[in-house]
Amino acid sequence: MTENSLESIKSQVISCTKCELCKSRKNAVPGKGNQNAEIVFIGEAPGRSEDKIGEPFVGAAGKRLTEALEEAGLSRDSVYITNVVKCRPPDNRVPNQKERETCRNYLEQELAILKPKIICVMGNTAYNSLLDGKDITKNRGRFLEKDGKLYFITIHPAATIYNQELVQILKEDIKTLHDKLKK
Ligand code: URA
Ligand code: SF4
Repeated sequence: MTENSLESIKSQVISCTKCELCKSRKNAVPGKGNQNAEIVFIGEAPGRSEDKIGEPFVGAAGKRLTEALEEAGLSRDSVYITNVVKCRPPDNRVPNQKERETCRNYLEQELAILKPKIICVMGNTAYNSLLDGKDITKNRGRFLEKDGKLYFITIHPAATIYNQELVQILKEDIKTLHDKLKK
């Protein structure tokens, strides 16, 4: 049942034309990962590599995320990874409110099916969309409860690409997250 439902969201996303982003995308990018995942990671939107392949976090940012996960003892296969919007915005601009709202239902369905123990929002767009937050630099590393769900806030892996200090911060945060899960 679970698998079917995630599969059903996937097929809806792949053929979705509900917002403008469908016009410029090559491939829509549904969430991907373990159907029994205890943690769901949420990024902003697909980038060029993701748009090309149709899978989340497969480019440079994805490599950083995978490294941080592995260093914390979490394999990519054990988690579920998705985005606020499932199609790449032109020139990687930040998805606007209308696009986020139009795509929202897919994310909500993913979370409703997976019922993860922790929802990890990565970067300002996810933080703002799900928790109405801003200033990720100040708030990262924190847990937050909202509407009976437990969230963890961290930076976007893409931010670490040209900033070595942030590589360590992301790794620290993912470790904090994994430690909480083990308790
Ligand atoms: N950045 C994101 O926010 N999501 C991806 O899937 C890739 C890069
Ligand atoms: Fe549909 Fe979301 Fe893609 Fe817009 S971004 S076309 S709502 S899947």
